[in-house]
Amino acid sequence: SRAVKNFLRSDWHKNHMAAISSEKFDSLLKKCPDFYGCKSHMAAFVLIREVLDTAGGPCERYQVVALGAGRSCCRKWLCYNGTMVHDCHAIIIARRALKRYLYKQLLLFFDDDPMAKENCVFESSADGHQLQLKPKTSLHLYTNRCPEGAANNFSFNATAMKLRYHAKALLVPVCNLDPSVWGAKVCCMSGSDKLCRWTVTGLQGALLSHFIQPLYISSMVLGGQELLNEEGSDIANMRLGDGWEDVLPPSYRKQNLIFLCGDYVGPVVTSHDDLSVNWCLGDSAVEVLDSGKGLVINGSPSVSGPGSSSRLCKRALYSYFLRVAQLGGHSYLLELPTYHSIKVEAVVYQTVKDLVKQRFLSNNEGAWNSKNLVDRFSA
Ligand SMILES: *[C@@H]1O[C@H](CO)[C@@H](O)[C@H](O)[C@H]1NC(C)=O
Ligand SMILES: *[C@@H]1O[C@H](CO)[C@@H](O)[C@H](O)[C@H]1NC(C)=O
Ligand SMILES: *[C@@H]1O[C@H](CO)[C@@H](O)[C@H](O)[C@H]1NC(C)=O
Repeated sequence: SRAVKNFLRSDWHKNHMAAISSEKFDSLLKKCPDFYGCKSHMAAFVLIREVLDTAGGPCERYQVVALGAGRSCCRKWLCYNGTMVHDCHAIIIARRALKRYLYKQLLLFFDDDPMAKENCVFESSADGHQLQLKPKTSLHLYTNRCPEGAANNFSFNATAMKLRYHAKALLVPVCNLDPSVWGAKVCCMSGSDKLCRWTVTGLQGALLSHFIQPLYISSMVLGGQELLNEEGSDIANMRLGDGWEDVLPPSYRKQNLIFLCGDYVGPVVTSHDDLSVNWCLGDSAVEVLDSGKGLVINGSPSVSGPGSSSRLCKRALYSYFLRVAQLGGHSYLLELPTYHSIKVEAVVYQTVKDLVKQRFLSNNEGAWNSKNLVDRFSA
């Protein structure tokens, strides 16, 4: 509604987004202050629920549900068993943590206890297949750094943008990427390219698309940028052009971001260049990764997976996926042999992803290649 959109454009909203993201980070890092420096590159996903206050009037309840910090990509050879986290940039890690939060919510939804369903953010949708967010619930992103990539260049010109990869610690336009590097080393699409894609595909990714409808970011607050709100919105929203959205399948859309420039929260000096922190609602402690290796460090407050693999790696999310498929009675999903085959089976999601890739191609931004080989592992 218009009232909500105006509210999301307010100074109060952007200040509050920065404040609660910062407070959440600080309270988590109290127990392990050595990693506080990671806050210099931080992102948080926040759910806003419209509830009634004690006087019966509407008010917004903010809750930080996922946090990520980090500033680099893995510099290793490709790993084929899903145990390595490739991209440790703050918004990418926050999104993986958000996926974990969503799996936990799905486990709540399928719990026998009726109170669990009551507390869950999802409900059944009218078409009966995928679950949807409960009404008056929306998702928002705060980050204290501008996502890297095409959108870094503020002399904005949508026709001159190019897709870029992080490869060997450099940000390279896709057309200049050396095939031998691409074939063997970890290369990650830039944060701003991924952000642009999420405005159409949603944040949930292929696996979660089996269970839930696309989940879009409603507003994004970017800290510490001398950028006009309108410029940021243009970069995020105009890049894919207009007039093609009507080919999108039901429940998908192009969700224009409400974009605001807010306060930078975080330390003035960065001390942990190569560490990455993650957390989602319900976790008792943060997990700390070595970004260069994509693995959990010795001394991380939280340790879970085998062989120092992260709770955010593909393999870990895959095991969440299988638990949810089992509880939800999706036996055909349990029979699919690999992580890759489950991705392929999300046919509608893949169609939408291909449409976005086509848009980038027809804008002469280059080809968005996916690395399918890293997905061909089994549980
Ligand atoms: C996964 O592969 C890496 C090498 O890329 C190896 O070091 C690790 O032990 C493997 N982990 C499992 C659980 O297979
Ligand atoms: C930024 O974009 C302008 C025009 O779109 C271009 O001329 C300039 O080279 C770009 N700068 C960088 C650093 O990519
Ligand atoms: C944007 O870039 C395109 C291609 O490089 C160029 O033809 C066009 O003149 C540029 N527009 C502006 C406003 O700079």
